[in-house]
Order: sequence, then C-alpha cells, then structure tokens
Amino acid sequence: MNVILVTGGNRGIGQEICRQLDEAGYIVILGSRDLLKGEKAAGTMSERVIVKQLDVTDEESIQALFAFVKKEFGKLDILINNAGIGERSEDPVNEIVAKVKRSIASNFAGTWQMLKKMKPILHKTGIESRGKGAGNVSLFQVRKVMETNFYGAWRMIQVFVPLILKSEDGRIINISSGMGELSALTGFYPGYSLSKTSLNALTIMFSNELKEKGIKVNAVCPGWVRTDMGGVDAPLSVSEGADTAVWLATEMQIPTGKFFQKRSVINW
Ligand SMILES: NC(=O)c1ccc[n+]([C@@H]2O[C@H](COP(=O)([O-])OP(=O)(O)OC[C@H]3O[C@@H](n4cnc5c(N)ncnc54)[C@H](OP(=O)(O)O)[C@@H]3O)[C@@H](O)[C@H]2O)c1
Repeated sequence: MNVILVTGGNRGIGQEICRQLDEAGYIVILGSRDLLKGEKAAGTMSERVIVKQLDVTDEESIQALFAFVKKEFGKLDILINNAGIGERSEDPVNEIVAKVKRSIASNFAGTWQMLKKMKPILHKTGIESRGKGAGNVSLFQVRKVMETNFYGAWRMIQVFVPLILKSEDGRIINISSGMGELSALTGFYPGYSLSKTSLNALTIMFSNELKEKGIKVNAVCPGWVRTDMGGVDAPLSVSEGADTAVWLATEMQIPTGKFFQKRSVINW
C-alpha cells in the first residue's frame, strides 16, 4: 500500500490533504511540529494515519522521521511538502506587539513618539516592513520565510529521496502559490513570493534530476483558501484547496516538472 508523508498536516490544507488521502485508503504520515496538535487534528481520521513530530527547519526532527519511515516501511511513495508560513502571520508575538502598538498609538500621542524610537527593533521583527515592497522589507523576515517554505522543503527532498527511490511510483508534490509565478511577481509579500518562486525552481531542478530514476516532481497552487494563512475572506474551502494535490497523489498517470492549479498546468 502507498505510504504518503504530508508536512504541516495538523491544520489547514495539509490536514485536509491527510483526511482525503486517508479516506481514499492510503497510509498517511501526518507531520506536525507539535505532536499533540497533530494527534488532535487526526482525531476523526482512521487508524491508518500515523502522526509524527516534524519541524521542517529542524534537522534532528527530519532525521528522526526518516529513521522511522525507513524502519517501518523501507520506502516512501509520496512526499507532499505542504508546510509553510506567510509573511503576515508566522509569528504570533509580532502580531500581538503590532496590536499593542496600534492601541497605544491611538490612546497616547506621546507613546507613539517613544515607539518611533523603537523603529529599528520593530523593523528587525518585520512589523515595520510588512507590505512595504521588496525595497523596504525586513530581510530578517525574508530569511525566516525562506527557511521554512524553501530550505525546509529542499531538505525534506534531500533526506527522503533515498526512500522515495524504493517506491515503484515515487512522487514529490510541492505546495507552492500563484504568488510565486514569475510573471506575477510584485513587491506584495516579497519574501513569501520569493520563497514560492524558489520552490518552483526547485521543482524544475529536481524533476529533471530525478526523471530518469522514475520520481515525478510537481508544484501546486491550491488557490486562495480559507485557512489561518488564507483568512476568512478567501473564496475556496480547504476541500477545494486540497483537491489538486490529492489528485496528483492518486491519479495513475501524471507528468513531471509541471505547475498545477485546478488540475491544469499553469505557467511558472
Ligand atoms: N491558504 C492559502 O490561500 C494558500 C494559497 C497559496 C498557497 N498556500 C500554501 O499552502 C500551504 C498550506 O497553507 P495553509 O493555508 O494550510 O496554512 P496554515 O493553515 O497556516 O497551515 C500551515 C501549516 O504549516 C505548518 N508549519 C509551519 N511551519 C512549519 C515547520 N517549520 N515545520 C513543519 N510544519 C510547519 C503549520 O504548523 P503549526 O500549526 O505548527 O504552525 C501548519 O500545519 C502552505 O505552503 C501555503 O504557502 C496557501
């Protein structure tokens, strides 16, 4: 039976991908930074779903999961690199500080002056640079997003390819975004966009490197989806957002080295 590993499976699109793949009868390894959150997320899923701790920015965590999959199954059929953070909401502390800042500023003009003096610190945390385009974005923030969305996915592929090579139909599915489309790049959330453009480039690179070895590597834009990241105004449900990734995981014949949205190929 096919074994599928989903990163960031404890909420949002990742959780829904796990749910749909479980329903379809696959063995799903639900990766979650926080094991308890993962177990809670898997609550209504079947016993086939295995919840494992996984932080894609933590080498030890990745290696521990690799050792488990190797020992338990001796192969991995599909890796779904779903874990991701946005430029807006990756750090709850930032959000709280921003809220306090707004509230104090509206009540005490003097405090506003004091906060202005703190600008270099706020800039470092990313609060001051958000939404200001590539010219002013905090590179501290950009590196943080790249660490998860790009280097995290890259490391996962590096570590798990030896196990995917043991599969008869190995696949890697990178959850990207239309915000990474080359033709659509603006200074809007520049770090996040860059992380997804880079993930797309990585998809092309690995698809070519692994083509001869029979592993198919594709990227997916789920669309704008109602999750913690997408927000309540997004038009798509998690079920719609998970659809193309699940289709790429379950369809018998799929191409390699393509970028998909709504089950169709889109431009890089
Ligand atoms: N929602 C959209 O509209 C939209 C649009 C385009 C692309 N996407 C992409 O779709 C994917 C899923 O997004 P979503 O909307 O479902 O976001 P979400 O609800 O914010 O969930 C993000 C998931 O990633 C996990 N995660 C973050 N950092 C991690 C790390 N270092 N290691 C392991 N897991 C980590 C989170 O775990 P914690 O609970 O521990 O934080 C959470 O499970 C992302 O790659 C995102 O960029 C989303």
